Amino acid sequence: MQTVKLLGISGSPRKRGNSRYLLERVLAAADAAAAGRVETDLYSFAGKKIGPCVSCFRCEDLGDCATRDDFQELRDAWLAADAIIYSVPVYHMGIPGQVKCFIDRLGNTLCVEEEGDISKPLKVVGVVVQGDCIFSGQEQVMVALINHAVLMGCIPVAGDPWQSYLGAAGWTRQDLGQDSLRDLYESGEADAKVAVAAAESLGKRVAQTALLIKAGGAACRDMLAADGAYGLFLSRLQSRGPQPG
Ligand SMILES: Cc1cc2nc3c(=O)[nH]c(=O)nc-3n(C[C@H](O)[C@H](O)[C@H](O)COP(=O)(O)O)c2cc1C
Repeated sequence: MQTVKLLGISGSPRKRGNSRYLLERVLAAADAAAAGRVETDLYSFAGKKIGPCVSCFRCEDLGDCATRDDFQELRDAWLAADAIIYSVPVYHMGIPGQVKCFIDRLGNTLCVEEEGDISKPLKVVGVVVQGDCIFSGQEQVMVALINHAVLMGCIPVAGDPWQSYLGAAGWTRQDLGQDSLRDLYESGEADAKVAVAAAESLGKRVAQTALLIKAGGAACRDMLAADGAYGLFLSRLQSRGPQPG
């Protein structure tokens, strides 16, 4: 049976918080929608140190980032996954710095040419973004993370209308607490219910799309093997044992 590995990345420096709460809802929904076919894992930035790219370009020779910190651990988990969910807080109407540091270094390290072609790892990517205010950067951060997915040769997907247009978005009604969204949801607050519904449909669609992509890849293995761009994608097919077709 085809299975997929779904990595949820909480971009908040808080151990417990609103990014993690929504991410857990995404992963539970993915699990329920594709029971037995999806393996979920949660990575949190809490307590991790991932510094900025220092523009040394040694990655071009090393095939790895020359700066040694927690980047390599997350890069390896990212590489092994068939699907990625980013769940991040809005910071100053933008991506939190720690997450930007990761994607800058990931991009420079992995956007290498594979036999003349830019690598297309074909990971399915979903985004979840929340902040304490309404209309305060959520969609900008979603678009930035979707741009990152496209640039990385991945496939962004949304959840279902009308709650999810680009991914899942929420706000905490200007409450900076760690459990704001959970409390609002449990009290029946309308916008928190939209955020959770969006997160859950996102989890379902990401898991299903990742299964479809992987099954399609197995069916088209010969065609893809003749094209140098798909090495990272094919290595994930091969690491899962015998495939159909
Ligand atoms: C440095 C910083 C900048 C922030 N900037 C914004 C912002 O521009 N818009 C917004 O809605 N919330 C902003 N916030 C609030 C957080 O996004 C909000 O508290 C969020 O719920 C935190 O998520 P977490 O619980 O996962 O850490 C900011 C918080 C911090 C620490």
